[in-house]
Amino acid sequence: MTQILIVGATSAMARGCAYAWAKQGQRLVLAGRDLTELERIASDIRLRFASNVQVAELDLDNVKHLSTRWSDIEAAHGDIDGVLMAAGWMPEDNDAMRRDTPALQVIARNFTGPVALLNAAADAFETRKNGFIVGISSVAGDRGRQSNYLYGAAKGGFSIYLAGLRNRLFASGVPVLTVKPGFVDTRMTWGLPGLFLVADPMQLGEQIVQAQAAGKSTVYLPSFWRLIMLIIQHVPEFVFKRLKL
Ligand SMILES: NC(=O)c1ccc[n+]([C@@H]2O[C@H](COP(=O)([O-])OP(=O)(O)OC[C@H]3O[C@@H](n4cnc5c(N)ncnc54)[C@H](OP(=O)(O)O)[C@@H]3O)[C@@H](O)[C@H]2O)c1
Repeated sequence: MTQILIVGATSAMARGCAYAWAKQGQRLVLAGRDLTELERIASDIRLRFASNVQVAELDLDNVKHLSTRWSDIEAAHGDIDGVLMAAGWMPEDNDAMRRDTPALQVIARNFTGPVALLNAAADAFETRKNGFIVGISSVAGDRGRQSNYLYGAAKGGFSIYLAGLRNRLFASGVPVLTVKPGFVDTRMTWGLPGLFLVADPMQLGEQIVQAQAAGKSTVYLPSFWRLIMLIIQHVPEFVFKRLKL
């Protein structure tokens, strides 16, 4: 039985993963900013699956303190054997990304924060030659688009980071899975115009757990997004910059 740390555990996608792991009898530590909501989710999981679920406070905006936070969480809850990095943030207002504070928050919550925490996890797993890492990136990281290029850049950077980490940890037997969802029906996308083929977050969570167990490196979810993104990546720049995407 393993103990899995889920960062951004109030996300519906993360809850789908938590259910799937709890069903298998894994122990969970749900981490995030909103302890009341985390406790509510933990109680729900305990009731449904009679599983061992703890909660921990963690704010990715405190980038400098995340390595200490990792050690504190392990000291309080025991060794962590797997991490799901599900946290992320996209401002509702695209223009917000042009202002300094929201722009820095986009980068902290989607890139520098996740990297700081996973660096600490990676060091521990590499030493123990045990563990796994799952990072939720996005198809938005596959090509810069005028409507959300800052979020896309942070996710693109996160995907590259996960790819490098996967290569580094391969020799230690620590798998790293990159998840690239398309549109998913969650708080992040609620009310956004122009969405299509929107996926169910609970189902997606189960698919993430299956992909991790199968030892996959990168998955697009749902899988047809691989083809969509292949096409989008091959649209010539002189055409792409004229599209209002
Ligand atoms: N929905 C989509 O269509 C879609 C598509 C591709 C990728 N994704 C990615 O999927 C992941 C899950 O997102 P979601 O769609 O389920 O949206 P969500 O419900 O908004 O979940 C985002 C999670 O990130 C956490 N978070 C935000 N800022 C944080 C911070 N400073 N410190 C710690 N946790 C923080 C939130 O916690 P709080 O409860 O404290 O706010 C929440 O748990 C994200 O990485 C997102 O970028 C989503």
